[in-house]
Amino acid sequence: MNTLVAELTVNGAPVKVIAEPRTQLCEILRETLNLTGTHVGCEQGVCGACTVLVDGKPQRSCVSYAGDCSGSSVITIEGFDEDPLMAELRDAFSRHHALQCGYCTPGMLVTARDIVLRLGEVAPGTIREELSGNLCRCTGYVGLVEAIEEVSKGRKPQRAATFTPAVKVAAAGQTAPPVPLPAHASSPARPVRSAVPGNAAQPDLRKGWSRIEQHLEIAVPPDQIWQKLRDIRDVSKCLPGAEITEVDGSALSGRMNVALGPMKVAFSGDGTVVFDEAARSGRMTGRGRDTGSGSSAEGEVEWRVEPAEKNADAASRILVVLSWRLSGRLAQFNRGGLVQDVIQRLASIFAANLEASIKGTPAPAGEIKSLGVLDLLWSVLVSRWRRWRGK
Ligand code: FES
Ligand code: FES
Repeated sequence: MNTLVAELTVNGAPVKVIAEPRTQLCEILRETLNLTGTHVGCEQGVCGACTVLVDGKPQRSCVSYAGDCSGSSVITIEGFDEDPLMAELRDAFSRHHALQCGYCTPGMLVTARDIVLRLGEVAPGTIREELSGNLCRCTGYVGLVEAIEEVSKGRKPQRAATFTPAVKVAAAGQTAPPVPLPAHASSPARPVRSAVPGNAAQPDLRKGWSRIEQHLEIAVPPDQIWQKLRDIRDVSKCLPGAEITEVDGSALSGRMNVALGPMKVAFSGDGTVVFDEAARSGRMTGRGRDTGSGSSAEGEVEWRVEPAEKNADAASRILVVLSWRLSGRLAQFNRGGLVQDVIQRLASIFAANLEASIKGTPAPAGEIKSLGVLDLLWSVLVSRWRRWRGK
């Protein structure tokens, strides 16, 4: 069985752990480091109970591969003991009865802290919107909103504010000894966070739009990847839930089925796609609507295929920049790292399926199944993938 070494900074302390490629960050935190303040509820990226800070941003540790987090700084609820803002939030949560059983509370607090830091003084409506990715089955949210509103009063946005926790992470003996990675291990393709060169590194400043940049590393030569990506219909088969219904030159039509817990929507829409053969790059735009829920999605995706930094003749990396905007019922998920988390997971599934398809090997069944759970991503990817499929 393949293993990898994840080198993290957890609550200020360097940690090296041996993990299997699909080990989730929450497993490392809870099972290896004994940081059980990070709770696990749905394990599907939906409830937010497992939220921790990764490189300063809230992230769902149940849908974050530990290997992908290697090199990152992770702060769990235990790491905020000396944080003054978190102390204020804890106090306000108590006074406003913002918790009952407490299961959601660690994730709520991490998210609440991010809301206050990022937005400063916030109105109740905004808090509800921002908190929509954290579910509580006990409190009814009134106390939660009141507590966050109170703490936010008079504050200015401080997005650049950082917090370095006192080093007191893993209990003794919890850090596994590092082992060397097998050379070019046949571990599944996985997305790696990275800034995409060129203008892709610019933030999306359009109102209501979100943006994410990733690169996927796949053990297939660049020419083969590029030829595969040119056939959008074929590529769409790597994305469960996606279906291209029509391709006419640079125009395309398609459908994307999205499910998030009880919420199921089916987007239908149109898009365009343009390829640049010389640069092995492409750009797709599209928009679609689910008439049942009234949700709509629009987005753009730009990609470029390059030789991988290592083993350049036999491996590639696909640089991808995705921009999207959601409206309607699904708009509540267009925030706070939820969609980003799902996208990250989806990208991993897509890469694994794409690699298997090109190599003619069976699709990794586990990945495809897990997609059913993470169909949320689709809502975000609907537009992008539609664009991908579209050509
Ligand atoms: Fe529910 Fe992670 S456990 S989002
Ligand atoms: Fe029980 Fe939120 S306090 S789930």
